[in-house]
Amino acid sequence: KPPPGISVDPLRIVAHELKFLTKNIRKLLGSGHPMLDKVAKYYTRCAGKHVRPMLVLLMSRATRNPHTPTPASIPVSDPISSPMVLSDNNPDMGPLTAPFLDAQYELSDDMEILPAQRRLAEITELIHTASLLHDDVIDSAITRRSTTSANLQFGNKMAVLAGDFLLGRASVALARLRNPEVTELLSTVVANLVEGEFMQLKNTAQDEPNPMFTEDTITYYLQKTYLKSASLISKSCRAAAVLSNSTPEIVDAAYAYGRNLGLAFQLVDDILDYTISADELGKPAGADLELGLATAPLLFAWKQNAELGALVGRKFCQEGDVERAQEIVARSDGVEQTRALAQEYAEKAIGALRDIPESEAKDGLIKMCEKATKRRK
Ligand code: FPP
Ligand code: MG
Ligand code: MG
Repeated sequence: KPPPGISVDPLRIVAHELKFLTKNIRKLLGSGHPMLDKVAKYYTRCAGKHVRPMLVLLMSRATRNPHTPTPASIPVSDPISSPMVLSDNNPDMGPLTAPFLDAQYELSDDMEILPAQRRLAEITELIHTASLLHDDVIDSAITRRSTTSANLQFGNKMAVLAGDFLLGRASVALARLRNPEVTELLSTVVANLVEGEFMQLKNTAQDEPNPMFTEDTITYYLQKTYLKSASLISKSCRAAAVLSNSTPEIVDAAYAYGRNLGLAFQLVDDILDYTISADELGKPAGADLELGLATAPLLFAWKQNAELGALVGRKFCQEGDVERAQEIVARSDGVEQTRALAQEYAEKAIGALRDIPESEAKDGLIKMCEKATKRRK
């Protein structure tokens, strides 16, 4: 503990863990097929923000239950670090699965985090990265994490298959946690991601050429945003608390924290698409309108200017639509209203932590809320 009056960055307590995270993820993704091995590990080479695993690790520490045995007292045969239960002797599979099955699990020396919670952190990053591989195909993105996107580098087919492979390996790792509640939570996330993406294909609840802004417009957007972005964060925070053997109240608090932070996080993402250059973002900027997507800044502008209805209806596809929409949003207070809403959710996230005992990890969770609203990337 630091001497009183000296503040340390609460996120430093998990920074050490993150070094193990990428290494372990790369092991989980090993394939004897050299090309698959390469494509599957492609996005792990670049510096992602690791927001989701960081939240899982912080929540794991913050909900640390003194009655749960520490890793040291877990028998060596614990299902996470023991050899794979799946047979690797299937002749039909050839050598393809070998590297994964040989993977030794690397543990850091942080006794406050259970091995299962560390694995959960890796699983959340795997699911997230799989969704990015698929998302970049759907969005025809050319950059991601400041590098060429996987779809551009290897083609759509390999990018989609690599995403599926990540989900497959995430599923095996999940099964090995031997916790049906956690398995159910993270499997639901995969379905939610697809549901959110489907809602986004439609943009609004009304499928017509000249939709009107109604109260449902924002509700639909927030539901889509929950499914697409907040579901993974909220359910993985919940799963971290479940693995800590937390009381139902603490499990619910972890979920509420993740849900509100996840919504704040995506609202800020939607702002950045309007306000930050592609260079700084490391991925295309202004991409949402080009993709026909109406996000929060535009929806708030639409509330004040009905002209946007026709543009939303035709997904900004006519010449000059994107520029016109940008102009209307810039003249409105759509960005400010979105920022205020993000701030509201971030505060709700912090409020959700009230029954979690004070700790450095809890300070880290609070700090994540501040970072989420202030970020430029
Ligand atoms: C990024 O959004 C994408 C997501 C948060 C989820 C995408 C989900 C799918 C493609 C569903 C299928 C995938 C799986 C793994 C089940 P964005 O395009 O708004 O953000 P960006 O600017 O980062 O591309
Ligand atoms: Mg995208
Ligand atoms: Mg997308």
